[in-house]
Amino acid sequence: MDSDLHPEAILVFLDELSASAGKIIMSYFRGEFRVDSKDARPGGIDIVTDADRASEELILKTIRSRFPDHDILTEERRTESTGSALLWLVDPLDGTVNFSHGYPMFAVSIALMQDNELLCGMVHDPVHGESFSAFRGQGAFLNGNPIRVSTANRLERSIVATGFPYDKAYSEVNNIAEFTNVVKRVQGIRREGSAALDLAFVACGRLDGFWELKLKPWDMAAGMLLVSEAGGLITDRSGSPTDVYTSSIVATNGIIHHRLTELLSKGS
Ligand code: IPD
Ligand code: CA
Ligand code: CA
Repeated sequence: MDSDLHPEAILVFLDELSASAGKIIMSYFRGEFRVDSKDARPGGIDIVTDADRASEELILKTIRSRFPDHDILTEERRTESTGSALLWLVDPLDGTVNFSHGYPMFAVSIALMQDNELLCGMVHDPVHGESFSAFRGQGAFLNGNPIRVSTANRLERSIVATGFPYDKAYSEVNNIAEFTNVVKRVQGIRREGSAALDLAFVACGRLDGFWELKLKPWDMAAGMLLVSEAGGLITDRSGSPTDVYTSSIVATNGIIHHRLTELLSKGS
């Protein structure tokens, strides 16, 4: 392995990079910033702000200067592909709708894949000063302390989270039937508005499960590694193995997984 990719070195790099991006985001938070729509349809709700762009700019520049041969896939600019075996997946601000309303739940999410397998990832929450990190085979951590998924064994005693896609008003695959099925059977359900943090919360046991139907690789990559390194289980909605390119995701502590996928397969 490239000496720059040793776990300690790469985690320090990710820690510094996500903290710097988080500082940029916080410099706009509850202040003045521009909001542009990414969806031309009437009532389109997918937006991008100055903070998304500034965070992405910094992350791109920093990765390019340290790892000029690696590929990068980011939300706002998409792919820079040279066919490298190493691919960075970047969501410069996950939870943009929250951010734009001054709601304090959003994160920077950065992951690195090698030959299509997740190698390391970090989800940084700049409001609460929490950094969730993982390196393949080395476990998952919150601010440097090891984390594990929960031990909840019944849906009736579980708290789960989900999210709804930006095209929910236009598409029948909008998670509403699935939500209706699950909400009746769990102790609590949350819609926090940041898939990366939802996955990080499954990894540290604050949530027992999470699902969503139309996520993108940059939303999930770092969080997926966190959950698997923390001892959890990740599949698609039918219970089959998944990867960052499969849009439906179910991530749990493993124990309630089957019950949750059963309910989801009754959806839409
Ligand atoms: C969104 C958030 C949200 C999820 C959406 C994502 P963004 O990402 O993760 O929780 O429900 O599906 O697109 O647009 O804020 O980066
Ligand atoms: Ca996102
Ligand atoms: Ca984003």
